[in-house]
Amino acid sequence: MYLYPKWVRLWHVINAFLIIVLIITGISMQYTDRENAAYLMGFSRAVKWHNISASFLVANYVFFILGNAITGNGRYYKLPLKNLISDIMTQFRYYAYGKFRGEKHPFPVNTERKFNPLQRFTYVLAMYVAFPLLIISGFGLLFPETVINRFFGVSGLILTDILHISMGFCLSIFLVVHIYTCTLGAKTFSHFRSIITGYQEPDEQ
Ligand code: HEM
Repeated sequence: MYLYPKWVRLWHVINAFLIIVLIITGISMQYTDRENAAYLMGFSRAVKWHNISASFLVANYVFFILGNAITGNGRYYKLPLKNLISDIMTQFRYYAYGKFRGEKHPFPVNTERKFNPLQRFTYVLAMYVAFPLLIISGFGLLFPETVINRFFGVSGLILTDILHISMGFCLSIFLVVHIYTCTLGAKTFSHFRSIITGYQEPDEQ
């Protein structure tokens, strides 16, 4: 099945590369202090590369949103509210238990259902909730004059910073879980091959 058109693969490889640069430079800034002035790469170099890769990430994100809006790929990101929790739990049980007992895949992939319910839910959370919050808070930190001074007595800048770091942390955790769940296809590397070639093997049924 041809599930990953060229533009999705192009967006994905650029996105993965930039997110990795952002995580490394972000960690470097987070842990740089007086005693540890050159943690990983040094503060000013980390800031420079964080800002450059973030600018490309935003452009790439706009490309993804527009691509989903004007091509059929956007339909895979629509969350059906009916049976949402129970479908997610069924998929979770399969990943945690059923798969290792040789059970059939509860939601086999087809051209109408590229993502299983758990994948769909996490992709929507990552791409349509965490990403916008990460970008908006990042913009606030880059241009502090746009951030409100105080919010319920707390510094607006600190709240923006906490939001940015939390979203960065959530997306880093997403990345680890994402790579692990990508190994749970028909064969260990089936999904990795798909995101390079565009073609996906059917799940074991
Ligand atoms: C080295 C890093 C990464 C690897 C190896 C990787 C691997 C993969 C693979 C194998 C797929 C196809 C299987 C599937 O649909 O689940 C995929 C799809 C996807 N990945 Fe990643 N990924 C990486 C980084 C990321 C990051 C950083 C994000 C977002 C924060 C992301 C978001 C997505 C999304 C949204 C899809 C579905 C795209 C679509 O078909 O519309 N990935 N990834």
